[in-house]
Amino acid sequence: MSEGGPLPVAVLGATGRMGRLVIAEILDAPDLALVAALASPGGAAVGADAGTLAGRAACGVGVVRPGPDAFGEARVVIDFSLPEALSAALPHLGDRALVSGTTGLPPELVARRDAHAARGPLLAAANFSLGVHLLMDLVRRAASALPHADLEIVETHHRKKIDAPSGTALALAEAAEAGRSAPLERRFGRSGRTGERAPTEIGVHALRGGDVVGEHTVWFLDDGERVSLTHAASSRVTFARGAVRAARWIGHRPPGRYDMAQVLGLSDRIG
Ligand SMILES: NC(=O)c1ccc[n+]([C@@H]2O[C@H](COP(=O)([O-])OP(=O)(O)OC[C@H]3O[C@@H](n4cnc5c(N)ncnc54)[C@H](OP(=O)(O)O)[C@@H]3O)[C@@H](O)[C@H]2O)c1
Repeated sequence: MSEGGPLPVAVLGATGRMGRLVIAEILDAPDLALVAALASPGGAAVGADAGTLAGRAACGVGVVRPGPDAFGEARVVIDFSLPEALSAALPHLGDRALVSGTTGLPPELVARRDAHAARGPLLAAANFSLGVHLLMDLVRRAASALPHADLEIVETHHRKKIDAPSGTALALAEAAEAGRSAPLERRFGRSGRTGERAPTEIGVHALRGGDVVGEHTVWFLDDGERVSLTHAASSRVTFARGAVRAARWIGHRPPGRYDMAQVLGLSDRIG
């Protein structure tokens, strides 16, 4: 693929809920070329056309198992898979750019993923929507402006989500902590004789059920008043579009760590 031609992209997790939407976005974009689609080693869709799986016309790219040569000509890999899939893929990325949305990574895998930034551009985000990144900024500001309010986060996701709390809820907790001078102790749910709530706590609670794409509310509970800030995603397409936008943005950048606020130009908008 020549410099200046379409940016060659591979998708890890090509058969999943997110991967199929990402592939549809890539196939619809004239400046991007899908060159590889990877699923699990024993996946039923190996060999199937990635375009057909994504609800588009056949594109001639068959779904393959992960392996040393599976990323082919790709300059960017978009990952929405499982922690074990990302772990197995990291040694084969070379200097390609990585856009990673997989959540629920154990700390050692987060460290290995982050080390990729020494070899290629890296953008990892628990949430690729514009609105959630705006919410993070609002939460940081509100946590600072309401220094005595008790902070609680409630997230709701569909019944098939396999990790809790969501990566976005944890990122919102970090945003709240950034707005407070003192670190906050995270309480994941409450039961039994909890004792009184400490002002240094931040509660993080997960609801699971139905087909909810993703909803996050951050509560600021003070004496005599309360504020709540909510983001609700009504379609996964918002995440797929954000990831594809990120892929375009980091595709030709030097190695290093980048974030969605840079991609979305949020610092300019929020001021
Ligand atoms: N950052 C964000 O904005 C955002 C938004 C939504 C979701 N997510 C996260 O993205 C991830 C995927 O979500 P999803 O709903 O799309 O999941 P999903 O529908 O279960 O899809 C998982 C994908 O990973 C593949 N896979 C599983 N094991 C693999 C392995 N060992 N090697 C290679 N591929 C493997 C599956 O292939 P088979 O079909 O062959 O099993 C499938 O394509 C989750 O961690 C989720 O929390 C992030």
